[in-house]
Amino acid sequence: MASTVLQFRDVSVVRDGNSILDGVNWSVASDERWVVLGPNGAGKTTLLQIAAAAMHPTKGEASVLEEKLGKTDVFELRPMIGFASTAMARKIPRNETVIDTVLTAAYSVTGRWNEEYEEIDTRRAQRVLSEWGLEGFADRRFGSLSDGEQKRVQIARSVMTDPELLLLDEPAASLDLGAREELVGLLGGYAASAASPAIVMVTHHVEEIPKGFTHALLLAKGGIVAAGPLAEALTSETLTEAFGIPIELTESNGRFAARAN
Ligand SMILES: Nc1ncnc2c1ncn2[C@@H]1O[C@H](COP(=O)(O)OP(=O)(O)OP(=O)(O)O)[C@@H](O)[C@H]1O
Ligand SMILES: [Mg+2]
Repeated sequence: MASTVLQFRDVSVVRDGNSILDGVNWSVASDERWVVLGPNGAGKTTLLQIAAAAMHPTKGEASVLEEKLGKTDVFELRPMIGFASTAMARKIPRNETVIDTVLTAAYSVTGRWNEEYEEIDTRRAQRVLSEWGLEGFADRRFGSLSDGEQKRVQIARSVMTDPELLLLDEPAASLDLGAREELVGLLGGYAASAASPAIVMVTHHVEEIPKGFTHALLLAKGGIVAAGPLAEALTSETLTEAFGIPIELTESNGRFAARAN
């Protein structure tokens, strides 16, 4: 039975008098994989931060893994949430080894300190690395990896704790075509597995939506333009409305492309 992993009721976020999210109603079930699209500044990262229990709404109510934010201990909640973003990647020390980068996720820290790692954690980290195409990289320094390799290490890190909710903020940003396709393929394989958690991925490009993703949320100016199953929420019309220019969406074999019409 699917459970509800995210439930937003009339969620608004106001910063410096500006409305960043405005009355967002949204829910995500444990067997759904969502893509979030929208122009720069639409509020996508803010939405993910609430989903990550890293920020509370200014108004409205958000429940994460059936715990109401503001009424729960977020430090107990966060280990159940995998989160990969550029902001988090910046916190990873460049001289950290790849294996430690992934291992430290088990302790919700970046930068190895004095923790005693269990043998079982090390084995799991090795397995997660190989699942993300990183066998042989364990002893490399994070800062010596290519952008594509770094992105995959971040995702490996975010799934290390076997989370119930995986949040990815622009995981394919800045990747070349080959690295992007490799990552989208790995994400598609991961999303297709029944054992994988609910996923919410923010991206700027419909080309980056992996096969097996089920739902889309389109945001513009802090509000929802469309939300629901991919076939209904991701169309030429909804993209046109969200981005404010005529856009034509095409689909082929489970992958998407979009361009100005
Ligand atoms: N702490 C803050 N104080 C004031 N404004 C903020 C704050 N955080 C975010 N904003 C503003 O809120 C808006 C939404 O930001 P957010 O990062 O959620 O957008 P986004 O959709 O992720 O954009 P992008 O595609 O560029 O990553 C932006 O205009 C941003 O400048
Ligand atoms: Mg963002």
